[in-house]
Amino acid sequence: MRPIEQQAAQAYREQFGEEPVVVASAPGRVNLIGEHTDYNGGFVLPCAVDRRVAVAVGPGETQLYSANFHEVRPLLSKREGSWADYPSGVVWAMQEQGSDVSRFRAAFVGDVPLGSGLSSSAAIEAATAFALDAFYHLGIAKKNLAVLCQRAENAFVGVNSGIMDQYASLLCQAGTALLIDCRSLEAEPVPLDLVGADLTLLVCDTRVSRELGATGYNARREACERAAHILGVKELRDAHIQDLDKLSGEELKRARHVVTENIRVLEAVHAVRRQDFAAFGRLMYASHRSLRDDYEVSTPELDAFVEIAMQSSALGARLTGAGFGGCALALIRSDDAGMLVLSVQHYFEERGFKPPVLYSFQPAAGAEVAT
Ligand code: GLA
Repeated sequence: MRPIEQQAAQAYREQFGEEPVVVASAPGRVNLIGEHTDYNGGFVLPCAVDRRVAVAVGPGETQLYSANFHEVRPLLSKREGSWADYPSGVVWAMQEQGSDVSRFRAAFVGDVPLGSGLSSSAAIEAATAFALDAFYHLGIAKKNLAVLCQRAENAFVGVNSGIMDQYASLLCQAGTALLIDCRSLEAEPVPLDLVGADLTLLVCDTRVSRELGATGYNARREACERAAHILGVKELRDAHIQDLDKLSGEELKRARHVVTENIRVLEAVHAVRRQDFAAFGRLMYASHRSLRDDYEVSTPELDAFVEIAMQSSALGARLTGAGFGGCALALIRSDDAGMLVLSVQHYFEERGFKPPVLYSFQPAAGAEVAT
């Protein structure tokens, strides 16, 4: 068992005075490239990070306990704006599908930073869904659990997100990124041997937290739908560069990002497959510029990290996740990562930004039942 899974089992014992029956965990994710493409039926390339939410489950009158928040919540029948929305949403979605999952106790512990863009919400949903599937012997495939978690997020929690985060948290494998076709929901692991290439992925949590629902996320989605409607296509996945001439204003900018980003994801997969990390890095930086200038979801902190990284000989850097705050990511030679950390800390302090949290990681495993 991972330490975080042991902590969940221990929290269960302390809270409920018994041994749990199932312990499972699921990771946060970082998206390497392919931003705001998932809800346009396009391509994304996330990988799991080694920060997880673990949950221990056993029988009894339903109670949800969070060791992070030191509180017990009942199973909710509607959203209340707390952490308990996520497991409650998953139970709601499972019940909607006819699974009787109403009597269980659960203890949660997590170390995915909240609201940072590393998908702590998908991690708690995926951990809950995977643990309950094992506890009730439901036998639901991981892909279907991901769709179920997305339904919980959209219809219960009320955030209109795409499928990427839940898919990544459930289906990623250690040492690989995951190419997801968000229309067909086909997913393919792409080996990512960073250690062999002497490279590090450095994540910068700018600690500017963004509530997805309260930001322009839904406004971006609506602009994409309008653009698809004007072009007469089902989703922007079906639009081509030459179609962009028919658009103007906000729709043109948003659609140009989505159309070019889908192309960049597929090129990035080729680059990673042939271990051409310089080409991969250039695509990352192009993605950032497109998110900054056309999709307009960057912030001064995210831009600062990206520019410092590029000046510090990073191969590439970009904001990752929805934007509007949260995290950015750089691909850099392992030897140069320490220097980049210092430069970023120094610059953020000088500019009066919040102190950022920086850490490197290797692609980690998706949801697992602990044995
Ligand atoms: C958030 C959403 C995802 C995706 C990204 C942007 O993380 O939850 O579904 O849309 O933003 O790529």
